[in-house]
Amino acid sequence: MRFALKGLWTLAISIASVAVFAQEQIIPVTTAENSMVLKVDQQKNLSILYYGRKLGNNNEYGLIPQAYKQTSDYTEVADAAYTASGSRNLLEPAITVTHADGNNSLDLRYVQHEQKDLGNGVSQLSILLKDPVYNFQVTLFYKSYFKQDVIEQWAVIRHAEKSNVLLHKYASANLHIKAKSFWLTQYHGDWAKEMQPETSKLTHGIKTLDSKLGTRANLFQPSVFMVSLDKPSTEDEGTVLYGALEYSGNFKTDLELDYQNNLRIISGINNYASAYTLKPNEDFVTPGFLYTLSHEGKGSASRRLQDWARNYKVLDGKKDRLTLLNNWEATYFDFDENKLKELIKDTRKLGVDLFLLDDGWFANKYPRNGDVAGLGDWAPNKKKLPNGIGTLVKEAANNQVKFGIWIEPEMVNPKSELYEQHPDWVIKQPLRAEHYFRNQLVLDLSNPKVQDFVFKVVDDLFAKNGELAYIKWDCNAVIYNAHSAYLKNQSHFYIEYMRGLYNVLKRIRSKYPTVPMMLCSGGGGRVDYGALEYFTEFWPSDNTDPLERIFMQWEYSYFYPAIASANHVTDWGKQPIKFRTDVAMMGKLGFDIVVNHLSEKDLQYCQDAIKQYNSFKDIVWFGQQYRLANPAEGDIASMAYINEEKSKGVIFNYLVNNRYGSGSIYPVRLKGLDRAAKYRITEICLYPGSKTSIDESKSYSGEFLMTIGFNPVLNAQRTSVVLMIEKI
Ligand code: GLA
Repeated sequence: MRFALKGLWTLAISIASVAVFAQEQIIPVTTAENSMVLKVDQQKNLSILYYGRKLGNNNEYGLIPQAYKQTSDYTEVADAAYTASGSRNLLEPAITVTHADGNNSLDLRYVQHEQKDLGNGVSQLSILLKDPVYNFQVTLFYKSYFKQDVIEQWAVIRHAEKSNVLLHKYASANLHIKAKSFWLTQYHGDWAKEMQPETSKLTHGIKTLDSKLGTRANLFQPSVFMVSLDKPSTEDEGTVLYGALEYSGNFKTDLELDYQNNLRIISGINNYASAYTLKPNEDFVTPGFLYTLSHEGKGSASRRLQDWARNYKVLDGKKDRLTLLNNWEATYFDFDENKLKELIKDTRKLGVDLFLLDDGWFANKYPRNGDVAGLGDWAPNKKKLPNGIGTLVKEAANNQVKFGIWIEPEMVNPKSELYEQHPDWVIKQPLRAEHYFRNQLVLDLSNPKVQDFVFKVVDDLFAKNGELAYIKWDCNAVIYNAHSAYLKNQSHFYIEYMRGLYNVLKRIRSKYPTVPMMLCSGGGGRVDYGALEYFTEFWPSDNTDPLERIFMQWEYSYFYPAIASANHVTDWGKQPIKFRTDVAMMGKLGFDIVVNHLSEKDLQYCQDAIKQYNSFKDIVWFGQQYRLANPAEGDIASMAYINEEKSKGVIFNYLVNNRYGSGSIYPVRLKGLDRAAKYRITEICLYPGSKTSIDESKSYSGEFLMTIGFNPVLNAQRTSVVLMIEKI
């Protein structure tokens, strides 16, 4: 039996981080708290021996299997590090192929591995696996981030068979985890209802999280998820794994509770309608599957992921961001040059950094005066903007603010010159009726000419307006009738679409490496860590009702850092301006309101709040985020951001229930402070003329605040309270 190895472990010798046991090898991928331990057995099977809290002595990993008395693994590959199908495997595979000779079997055996230190706390392990019968190989990559306990895993598939091999399935990774029970937290959504959480116990069989929408992968279901081990994790307790596929297109994550009661997680590009023909010596590179494991609950997992994202993933994750005024909800499509010039003046009056011109500025033959026409024709509309964009950029400079612009370059309205001139650039079934999502169709980015076109939309904007400082990149349709007039093999369509999109983004970023870009899609239908490499921020939802946003931003924050969350103050919802602004300050602040409709006091509040925000935004963007009171569990929400030194923080508190007598009856327990230090708490962002209900003269130890807590005094008269905490 492959698990009856106890005697052999005494022969162990350690070479660097790799222990070699007679014919067996242990390969640990170690991070600050955890270890993903791989094992090569005598038959050269590569399996996952363990994933969990790391042990001090690598030699003891070999003792793990005998501690479990589960039923036998008849196949000897149930715990495979990358499960091949068609030979011994009986469970959900990571990879399925048809070889050049028509044979469907694959068996992958260890050949060699290499470990590299990439510096900056990052290591990379690559393991080459080969089929002993066919000239077919897979290289598994494990990029590990020591401090954040994050691993990114992907695979490169390649063969040198006589002719093409058909890949039916090509996952990025599969994991194999042991626990007494598994609790999945997944998300579902729709327009204006993004990131709705659901937690359930995983039962035997396969639970699939996936998308087949082509674009905006996660409109209905994002790829981010959590799995708690043994019992549902809370904010500060329990072992929890976070996972996500770094991919903006169709994804598929299978969570299989197998007959031995182990959990197998298989994640990758969705193979739906996407069998891939791999030529000899062509590399098929999967996207990264990202995961982290925490033993101190969801809060600590989220802080690690946020830290990882800022340091290694989100574009310029450690740099400054621009506050802005957007005209979308202020004007919709109804504006002209004069109106915009007024709004630019309002941008300065408000005190934000940039004016963002939204949809409706382009197209002439079919003017973009509504969402039914013009998309694709990216020339400024002569009636609305007789002097083009340049004059607006200048007007912004004259007002000492910057200028940004909205585009949706992947899309086309059938009522457009682009559609008339290039019907073959549009994704549609040649023999079927067109079907529209928001009156539009998607351009075929698998076609290099379309890639050039989309690149040029952006490049021209910069060429003509050198001072352009921001782009809002929208994507408001899914793909219906998936078919490319360009591709010979339609099964490659979904994959080539995404490759095309990433090609364009790479080109844009090599020419314009730092210009901030917002990843938008009429809601949170597109945020993922594949795209955030090219974008500085994302639009969580078109739903900007602050009450809804408290819940939504709370859930997003488990996976994404506040600096990447574009939160705008709008007229959605019934809450007063203070409440709306305070909620938007828990991320990257923006406004989408008519400034001159604000009462004098409301305007005063916004102006003051922006100044305050500028003084503490570094803490929100770069500090540690602590969830203190969950709005889903009571009358109030409380979220804190504390700086690295634990000397200063800002705490946002809201009343989320309108019922009689609801408020902060109990103190809110703080987190992330220095126990021994003394702190003072003051209320900031007060509405003009109002006074705080808090006694600001007292000081408290960190111990007191984290043991007893502090009452923000939320009630029907005080529905939004922002507190500043400072070490004395
Ligand atoms: C989407 C975006 C909005 C706005 C409109 C413009 O819905 O989410 O913010 O840009 O498109 O049409």
